[in-house]
Amino acid sequence: MGAIITGTGHYVPEKILTNKDLEVMVDTSDDWITTRTGIKERRISKENESTSDLATQAAFKALETAGVSPKEIDCIIVATATPDMLFPSVACLVQDKIGAINAAAFDIEAACTGFIYGMTIAQQFIQTDFYSKILVIGADALSKITDYQDRNTCILFGDGAGAAILEKGDEGRGILSSKIGADGSGGRLLKLPAGGSLNPASINTVENRLHYIQMDGNEVFKFATKKMSSSAKEVIEQSNLCIEDIDFFVPHQANIRIIEAAAKRLKIGNDKIIINLDKYGNMSAASIPVALDEAVKGRLIKRDDNIILVGFGGGLTWGAMAIKW
Ligand code: ACO
Repeated sequence: MGAIITGTGHYVPEKILTNKDLEVMVDTSDDWITTRTGIKERRISKENESTSDLATQAAFKALETAGVSPKEIDCIIVATATPDMLFPSVACLVQDKIGAINAAAFDIEAACTGFIYGMTIAQQFIQTDFYSKILVIGADALSKITDYQDRNTCILFGDGAGAAILEKGDEGRGILSSKIGADGSGGRLLKLPAGGSLNPASINTVENRLHYIQMDGNEVFKFATKKMSSSAKEVIEQSNLCIEDIDFFVPHQANIRIIEAAAKRLKIGNDKIIINLDKYGNMSAASIPVALDEAVKGRLIKRDDNIILVGFGGGLTWGAMAIKW
């Protein structure tokens, strides 16, 4: 059996943080942010709004599009690096909020690559007949772990959630192939140092701002451009397709220069790339499913299109997936 996506949905918070707003918070400028990243604005969740709230809204929309009721869902997989708390998982919170009483539920953490990891896991469950309807969500509220005194990182991130329903379908449709990978030796390049078992929360960790994202932007940049193109190539080959057969690429939305460099390596035109980072910045695990949903609902991606999801993130991790829509 094939594993096909029968519905997608997304949700972003209402509050917009523009580059102009950031100009008064840190030493930066709209011009610097726009030329170095392509980002113009991002969405910020409310103080009492958590990742599971964003994920729940996206889930309802995906369920509605697929015409599936919460009780029919067998499993919920949430990809997130910003869970409401260490446990219970966001997936369990979502299960309760949407009333998916028959679903198993768990989170996975692969940072910005999380949605592709989650979809790959879901694909195995579907293809082995273990489950027949799975809700996969990529959701992150990065604003909650962003240091708004650090201009290297605070200009990049925003909050949001995207979801997809995966079901059984005809062979040769849906997910054609996927590839996920990791290089733990690069873990130090992108991390949140405290709040775990290594550095439990303490006055010291708070005073030293260790509960915020730390990143070596230049190194992540180099890794990202290489991995985006090589992993996309791998799944295209595995699917017996060539670059020209691909109708749309849905890349992780971290930085327009990373996407353009990867596109150049792959020799693909900008008209084939779905981009929304100007509106939302980097929403980590939510970036790809939000861009996918916007492209599907905006009628850019149509039935029988060949599309590639491709991303990278903390871990370091990377992944790509070829789909016949
Ligand atoms: N405004 C103005 N100047 C800035 C800013 C800012 N917001 N940030 C940095 N600068 C300065 C630097 O201090 C530096 O100044 P200097 O030359 O006087 O030292 C100069 O601008 C250039 O800095 P670089 O870091 O070399 O700038 P670069 O062009 O590499 O862009 C960026 C930085 C945007 C962070 C880029 O490296 C990038 O996008 N990296 C990848 C980040 C990424 O994708 N992260 C993924 C996170 S995914 C996840 O898992 C959460």
